[in-house]
Amino acid sequence: MGINTVGVVGLGTMGAGIVEVFARNGLDVVAVEISDAALDRGRANLTGSTDRAVAKGKLALEDRDALLARVDFQVGLGALADVDFVIEAVPEHLDLKQKIFAELDRVCKAEAILATNTSSLSVTEISVATHRPNRVIGVHFFNPAPVMKLVEVIKTVVTADEVVTDVEALCARLGKVDVTIADRAGFIANALLFGYLNHAVAMVEARYATREDIDAAMRLGCGLPMGPLALMDLIGLDTAYEILDTMYRRGGRDRRHAPAPLLKQMVTAGLLGRKSGRGFYTYEKAGSPVVV
Ligand code: 3HC
Repeated sequence: MGINTVGVVGLGTMGAGIVEVFARNGLDVVAVEISDAALDRGRANLTGSTDRAVAKGKLALEDRDALLARVDFQVGLGALADVDFVIEAVPEHLDLKQKIFAELDRVCKAEAILATNTSSLSVTEISVATHRPNRVIGVHFFNPAPVMKLVEVIKTVVTADEVVTDVEALCARLGKVDVTIADRAGFIANALLFGYLNHAVAMVEARYATREDIDAAMRLGCGLPMGPLALMDLIGLDTAYEILDTMYRRGGRDRRHAPAPLLKQMVTAGLLGRKSGRGFYTYEKAGSPVVV
């Protein structure tokens, strides 16, 4: 069929990043939120990211303006009636995602592909909320979406082959590298990554080493771009908690994925990482850590 027009549902960290990826690559995007206030926050996420690129000399002002002009901000899923492809990036709650997919199924044209950016939930369970599970697929971007090259494409037992082909062509158009996997908890990257991140939180909890030393060990000793605690702050501690909890329950209660109690306490206390200004580190507006 080919994908020419796209929609994004949910404009938090990941959704706004995905909108930016589409618009940077010349696609017109309908960007949807549930309220005017949420839409304003989503617009601010996008303009914040593109303004940073302009300030760094990476994006010309007129290119920024052209990019933003390709984005049609709308409240409500009804705005997605004409798009060829929709990707949902709302919080990791199965009932919420199923509700959204049931509504997308109702409003989107019959041939539209419905994708979820879920990081750990079952794409199959999301797909059965629709009457077109063969046109539902997982398309998992990584944070920050405009930078990270990988997209995981999750094919359920009923996803149609032509849907996979269209999504692979879309990934290529976005300059991303895609890998295809079956619908298993955590797919490839999170299945490997989150046991390690959880272990790092347990080390902090046990006062095994300081957060700075744990991060320095992995950055300077293992060549990773960020240490695990700084990465948790980037991902968002609430998101990380939801992913671990889901993987623990879906993945046979592997204790590597049982969320460290400290993680739950930090989330309850509102320490969510960069997005709330404090997680394992404290952040200034620009996102650079201030050690307190
Ligand atoms: N949005 C857009 N662009 C961003 C960005 C953001 N949030 N953060 C950084 N960038 C861009 C910068 O503008 C810069 O672009 P340029 O090279 O064109 O100038 C480039 O990324 C590098 O940024 P910086 O020089 O400021 O900083 P670093 O070199 O330290 O890189 C990083 C920052 C890209 C975040 C790097 O530290 C990194 O790769 N970290 C690991 C990230 C990672 O592992 N992500 C996966 C998380 S797991 C996941 O997402 C799964 C999900 O399900 C939870």
